[in-house]
Amino acid sequence: KESGSAEDESSEEYGVNRPQSPTQISSNEEVSGAKVFRVSIKDKNDERDFERIRSKTFIDMLHRSKSDVDILVRPSTYEKTKDLLRSANLDYEILIDNLGKRIELENPAISEETAELVGRQGHKLTFEHYHRVEDQHGYLDYLAETYKDYVTLESIGTSHEGRELKLIKISSGYPNASAIWIDGGIHAREWIASATVLHIVRELTEYRDNLPEEMKQVDYYVVPMVNPDGYEFSHSAYRNRLWRKNRAPGSGSCQGVDLNRNYGYKWGGKGTSNYKCSDIFRGAGPNSEPETKAVANYIGKKKPEIQGFLTFHSYGQYILYPWGYDKKLPPDYEDLQRVGDIAAQRIKEKQGVKYKVGNSANMLYAAAGAADDWAKAYGKVKYTYTVELRDEGSYGFVIPSSEITACGKDGFEVVRAVAEALVKTS
Ligand code: ARG
Ligand code: ZN
Repeated sequence: KESGSAEDESSEEYGVNRPQSPTQISSNEEVSGAKVFRVSIKDKNDERDFERIRSKTFIDMLHRSKSDVDILVRPSTYEKTKDLLRSANLDYEILIDNLGKRIELENPAISEETAELVGRQGHKLTFEHYHRVEDQHGYLDYLAETYKDYVTLESIGTSHEGRELKLIKISSGYPNASAIWIDGGIHAREWIASATVLHIVRELTEYRDNLPEEMKQVDYYVVPMVNPDGYEFSHSAYRNRLWRKNRAPGSGSCQGVDLNRNYGYKWGGKGTSNYKCSDIFRGAGPNSEPETKAVANYIGKKKPEIQGFLTFHSYGQYILYPWGYDKKLPPDYEDLQRVGDIAAQRIKEKQGVKYKVGNSANMLYAAAGAADDWAKAYGKVKYTYTVELRDEGSYGFVIPSSEITACGKDGFEVVRAVAEALVKTS
């Protein structure tokens, strides 16, 4: 049977039946010469047509929602892709004409002025630049040193390449407080996610005095960088700026597991691949990766204390709740929708941008083995969300570092809404 026909539910397992296709971008040159197309998917027919060309060709998807798909178009496949889309009668627009130019704007060098200020502050992190893992960890060390009475740091595991997975705990000081888990950086190329989480951490520590009362009554467990190996790879000299997975050894250029398909709830279901080269490779088994195992073990230990779970991604501006493995809603979905709406409304008022709130399989697509479903099902965490940060595609993954503060504030509102819900109900 032909793979990828829309009638077949397993068509979502893209990548499985096409080992001949260069799913993984092998060099950064390909990335900097690339364009991004937004293909509009208006109905079932478009969906089927898109699946048909995708299963036969080399199309890399960057983002997908119900109404459109963003695809990376490398220089070598530009003409062919246009022909295919035309012959399938699919409408598209050029979202990013020159990705290389966008990448150049993404993370400007630190000015001398900033460097001097940085020299005096006890750590190297700024919120105007994307920083390497070392600087991020340096900031966490600094906070633990500076706010000894309520901040503690621990290592919850190590990555494939031996990097520490650092967790910062920010305590309320109340003995039976509910807790919120916050993580970022599970997908390597989503640099804004870790930067946002660190910005939230700053508000919870350095600016603690300004916090709304409810937020002070909650404990926070925060892992700003879940996938340090992938992140470093996406920064390195022969970096592939669009690397998504971890760096689990594989064969040839086909390495890495999509950590957000590796969690142990409904592992192996829709929207996952068993093909090592795929960007959504689910790994050898549930929680097979040290990074997912570390998170799952830790949350397992802290249940039922952890009652909120927020995992930050980019892009698209969504606040999503389970289930993600299929188009099904949890029994308490109305609570999740309500709290998500409160956050989105405040972001709209204060920041002037719109976040869409809804169930993740319905708003985006079904994808099993993600962190949010695991947290809800096994962690028994009531308020579980995946937040897709800015923007809506003009920069996509390479959103400039000047947006870190704005995203930090967006993220803060989600944390605040969840904290309020927990304090009210306890
Ligand atoms: N962009 C995220 C991903 O593809 C969305 C995950 C949403 N959650 C889910 N369980 N599918 O990994
Ligand atoms: Zn992601």
